[in-house]
Formats: sequence, structure tokens, C-alpha cells
Amino acid sequence: MARPRPELAPSLLSADFGRMAEATRLLREAGLKYVHLDVMDGVFVPNVTFGPKMVADLRAEAGELVMIAHLMISQPERYVDEFAAAGADVITVHAEATAHLHRALQQIRAAGKQAGVALNPATPLAAAEEVLESADFLLVMTVNPGFGGQKFVDGGLEKIARARARLDEAGRDVRIEVDGGVKLANIKQVAKAGADVIVAGSAVFGAADPAQAISDLVAALNS
Ligand code: DX5
Ligand code: ZN
Repeated sequence: MARPRPELAPSLLSADFGRMAEATRLLREAGLKYVHLDVMDGVFVPNVTFGPKMVADLRAEAGELVMIAHLMISQPERYVDEFAAAGADVITVHAEATAHLHRALQQIRAAGKQAGVALNPATPLAAAEEVLESADFLLVMTVNPGFGGQKFVDGGLEKIARARARLDEAGRDVRIEVDGGVKLANIKQVAKAGADVIVAGSAVFGAADPAQAISDLVAALNS
């Protein structure tokens, strides 16, 4: 089955938090499909960002952009309904953050949203195996979550390739999202390994000219 071409999903984590609407507008004007929003609670990860209000406040500016809420929070099921009400289109929870992963994914779908399951670098793919039927996205973390600007982990490409092979074998229509350490130098390899949606934070908003960085990354992706 032919897969659609991979898409870039910039993360606003490295953007100026005082100008999130502008950053969102830039992605829309660049004709991108996705925006990736990193929600951190200072418990599951050692950093704190923002909550559902940021998603709600960016919803109008996002327009047709698919808003992916990447919840790096403990017991994410406590907040699924709030992020759904705020207007997130995809809600992603970490397998490591909940004792009830299946229930959390069901809850996301019951709220009418697409469900994502995220795995830290140390977590084997098997942690998501039993819930693939309830997932629309499998997010493979290629850094330890918490901060932008980290290095792509060793073995990351191989893990993406293994995820791709398992999903294809099982005939599952689950998109693979890859998050962390993606730059101009490795984005093509990440796509080739099997990613469908590729997150880039510092490579976009850490650049002197984010619009140029987006067009360079998209060109590399399509090369
Ligand atoms: C890390 C976040 C990522 C982050 C990626 O915890 O989940 O989405 O923004 O940033 P870069 O692309 O700089 O690694
Ligand atoms: Zn993320």
C-alpha cells in the first residue's frame, strides 16, 4: 500500500512563547498540514510549558492546521477532555505516563479526536503493540522528552524502521510520528526509515529565518 508523502510538523517549543500566534500563522502560510504542541507538567518531564488554554487560544490562528497535542504529563487521562474541548485534533499520550493506556486512547476517540501513543527512547515498541487498534498515531521519541535542541538518539532510525515493518506486517493504518533531534542533515533519513509525520522544533524556530528553515526542510523531505 503506497503511503502518502511524509509531512513536516513543526513544534512551537522553540518559538517565542510571547508570540505563539505569529509562529502558528507562519506554519499556516507555509502551507503545512500540522502543528505540534508540547505540553509538559514538570513531573513526567523536567520542564513545564503550557496547558489547554494555549491550544484554545491558538485554535483560530491555526485554521486548517491539524493541531497535535503531545502530552508529556503524568496520568494524561485527567486532561484528555480539556485538550479535546480546547480544539486539539490529535491527542498523544505517553505509554509510560499512564497505567491505563488503552482507556486513555479510548477516551480520546470518544471525544471525537485522533489518538496517539508516544514511546520514550528506552521504551520498547512492544509497549504499544496491544493498543494499535485504538491508535491513529505512534509517536517514536528520538530524544528523551523535556527539551528542544537535543541530539537524535543512537538507534533511532533503526527503531523507526522496526516500527514501520511491524505496522506494515500487521496491516495497521497507524501513522508514525518521529519527534526529537530532526535537522536538515537527517530529515531525509528519518523519512526513509518510515516516518509519516516528522517533528522539528529547534531546526525551525531556532533558525534565524524560520520560514526559510521550513522550506529547506520540506525540500529535503521531498528530495
Ligand atoms: C521534546 C519535544 C519535542 C521538541 C523537539 O520533549 O517533545 O517536540 O520540541 O525539539 P527538537 O526538534 O529541537 O529536538
Ligand atoms: Zn513533542
